[in-house]
Amino acid sequence: MHIWSAITTTHTHKPMDYPTFFHIFSSLLTIIYALITISGRHNSRLPPGPYPFPVIGNLLKLSDKPHQSLATLSKRYGPLMSLKLGSRTTIVVSSPDIAKEFFHTHDISFSGRTVPDTARIVDHDKYSIAWLPTGEQWRKLRRIGREYLFSVQRLDDSQLLRGEKVQELLNHVQRCCTNEKAVNIGASAFTTTLNVLSKFIFSVDFAQYDTISSQEFKEAVMALVELAGKPNLADFFPILKPLDPQGLVRKGNVYGKKLLTIFDRIINQRLQLRSSSMSTNIDVLDLLLNVVQKDESIFSRDDMRHFFYALFIAGTDTTSGTLEWAMAELIHNPEKMETARSEIIKLMQNNKGNIQEMHISQLPYLQAIIKETLRLHPPVPFLIPHQALHDVEVQGFIVPKNAQIICNIWAMGRDHNIWPNPKKFMPERFLKVKIDYKGQDYEFIPFGAGRRICPGLNIAHRMLHIMLGSLIHKFEWKLEGNIRAQDMDMEEKFGLTLPRKVPLMAIPIKV
Ligand code: HEM
Repeated sequence: MHIWSAITTTHTHKPMDYPTFFHIFSSLLTIIYALITISGRHNSRLPPGPYPFPVIGNLLKLSDKPHQSLATLSKRYGPLMSLKLGSRTTIVVSSPDIAKEFFHTHDISFSGRTVPDTARIVDHDKYSIAWLPTGEQWRKLRRIGREYLFSVQRLDDSQLLRGEKVQELLNHVQRCCTNEKAVNIGASAFTTTLNVLSKFIFSVDFAQYDTISSQEFKEAVMALVELAGKPNLADFFPILKPLDPQGLVRKGNVYGKKLLTIFDRIINQRLQLRSSSMSTNIDVLDLLLNVVQKDESIFSRDDMRHFFYALFIAGTDTTSGTLEWAMAELIHNPEKMETARSEIIKLMQNNKGNIQEMHISQLPYLQAIIKETLRLHPPVPFLIPHQALHDVEVQGFIVPKNAQIICNIWAMGRDHNIWPNPKKFMPERFLKVKIDYKGQDYEFIPFGAGRRICPGLNIAHRMLHIMLGSLIHKFEWKLEGNIRAQDMDMEEKFGLTLPRKVPLMAIPIKV
């Protein structure tokens, strides 16, 4: 029976009286409305996307590699797509044009953050530059970052220190070389990056290359990075937040407290030193303590501790992961390694020392390698999810207030409409075009774009080039276990960053 005749007649085929008809009709409308609302398609102007199931939405569409699942879905539904991840409306951006609309045209409207549950660890979300909305407090933290850490002047002034840390990395590699031992490239780069930041900020090393020494800071940062990369049911179903069903916040609190305690210890020691006027060295901690002491209501000790927390979590694994992928690609493509080494040797032929930051601009192939690595292996494949502050119309669709915005830069990096031979590691492609990762070229935004662009871009740029340049200038590399370059496992796994499935273990040979 047709639905309309079913509601306008009874089983005796007598016409239904008006109040009964009205009652049934309005009940049906209510049920239909409820179903549509539950499934999240109440807004007919949402961008296209797969039809969501009630409650779970489109969660079943995601595999253990969500960046790949979303890339496949976007091929079907387009570069502006909407999904329902549990109860969360999610907009997926996968083309440069649309990315420009989000992070340029409507940048302010999309500058919010959807805050994941693990950001609540030690109340970090309440203070963090990475999670605060773009209000006064966030602007203040960005200003402090620019002024005291990341300005060209501050970076130029601190370049010797980074050079020292790279020399320590080379010493570690040399020890492995002498003992014919493989270097765990990612882990070593992690130690270097951690020490570059800790020496810059606190004038102390937080990590060692050997495994005998205590590594409590390093372990805590690694654990927090890992926790933050785990898909969390509470993010898809906020009703579960109080239960913390996977125990991620509980576990994270232990490590988060450890980090804050270490910062506290260092801050207290420094305050003592300052009061006895024995402090001679002016580092970032000193500069920020001056800001705190000037007016605690503007920048408090808690603001400062969480500022450090955010920098170490955001800055270490991203940088070391990129370095590991760059080395893996070069060992996998020996002819590219040779081209890179020749370029460096040519520049450094009259210079016995190490590559310095001032050499970077004279090493276009090395720069192209870092770009090509970030294109194929962006360590933050979705950027850090943004949030719409209000309803915004984009290309005729409505991105609703509070929607989570995911920009799939992994998919953009492998889109054959943007890059010829996208899966091939070809640094040369960047020699021919003027495309950079400074947030102006929307086909290539591994550091993001707009007001929430990565504030650590310039220090990461410098660290990556001098670490990679030095490792290939001073050593040749072969794989542990005599694995041939072409047989290397180049699989990635999903996490906060996109790490290698198999850590790169490579044996250095002195050139
Ligand atoms: C290869 C290295 C790195 C990459 C690829 C990278 C990438 C990113 C990306 C994609 C974002 C999010 C942008 C957005 O939301 O649109 C971000 C944010 C951030 N990054 Fe980085 N980053 C790197 C290194 C660093 C370093 C070394 C630091 C600091 C020492 C750092 C500190 C931050 C902070 C604090 C944020 C949050 C900014 C905010 O929300 O306002 N990053 N980064």
